[in-house]
Amino acid sequence: MVDKHSPIGVIGAGQMGSGIAQICAANGYQVIIVDTLPDGLNKAKSQITKSLEKFVHQGNITAVAKSEILARMSTTTELEAIKGCKLIIEAVPESESIKKSILSQLPALLSHDAVVCSNTSSLSITQLGGFYTRPQKLVGLHFMNPVPIMPLVELIRGLATDDHAVETAFEFATSLGKTVVECHDSPGFVVNRLLIPMINEAIFLLYEGVASTEDIDEAMRLGTSHPMGPLELADLIGLDTCLAIMKRLYEGFHDPKYRPCPLLTQYVDAGLLGRKTQKGFYDYTVNQA
Ligand SMILES: NC(=O)c1ccc[n+]([C@@H]2O[C@H](COP(=O)([O-])OP(=O)(O)OC[C@H]3O[C@@H](n4cnc5c(N)ncnc54)[C@H](O)[C@@H]3O)[C@@H](O)[C@H]2O)c1
Repeated sequence: MVDKHSPIGVIGAGQMGSGIAQICAANGYQVIIVDTLPDGLNKAKSQITKSLEKFVHQGNITAVAKSEILARMSTTTELEAIKGCKLIIEAVPESESIKKSILSQLPALLSHDAVVCSNTSSLSITQLGGFYTRPQKLVGLHFMNPVPIMPLVELIRGLATDDHAVETAFEFATSLGKTVVECHDSPGFVVNRLLIPMINEAIFLLYEGVASTEDIDEAMRLGTSHPMGPLELADLIGLDTCLAIMKRLYEGFHDPKYRPCPLLTQYVDAGLLGRKTQKGFYDYTVNQA
């Protein structure tokens, strides 16, 4: 059902969009990457090139394959470039208003049966469907970070999503070599419902002075075999994204157990968002962590 000859449109070339574009191209799809910022596109290109070079270095792909993958991607600041795409992945920031603005522009560019996949990690697919005149063709396709490495994708069915959209998204994700877990639309879906409250609790430990950043991470790495501690993982995900998910859980369930830690809010207010701003719980300007 997924037409390999039809290009995939990826909207938003940040951490997630660039990773998604990379695996699409690596699996034979032509990809059109759209971002409002030329700088965002340049960053995406260098991030993808770096990631592919790592794969070449590890012997996972050849230098020729790297060039072929890069050649399958094009970048633009014009949303109109995705006109006629049959499958779109939306990976713009986790803001209802930005996603609403994108979704409202898509019907003029896409055919009635084109499937739109949102990579949202915290917004309701049903609610996003309310911003799209074809909610039956909108699904959640939640990739994990870093996209080229993590094998899981959550596939979320909104209240109005039809079987064609779910089946197309399933087949597409599988064609990228991902394992799909399907779930209904519920705050945090499956992974973030479990993961983000754990990260939030680690921030409470730091906030209350129970242990240091490094010790909290080491405790979870060595005590539970997590490959990364919760605070370094928060820096990787982005503290703004973590906060948005905690707020969504809190608002979605009205349960105080999901209240965001005040320290998390302060970091976000201060613009300390983790790796993407070079500072979060760790300082990446001095090569720590
Ligand atoms: N960071 C994670 O670990 C993670 C994991 C899974 C899902 N997600 C979700 O993926 C989405 C993107 O997250 P991210 O971490 O890649 O964000 P990001 O901030 O790194 O990237 C977002 C990109 O979108 C661009 N953008 C903003 N407005 C735009 C517009 N109107 N049109 C086109 N591009 C626009 C920005 O310039 C930026 O390059 C969010 O919905 C987030 O919740 C994030």
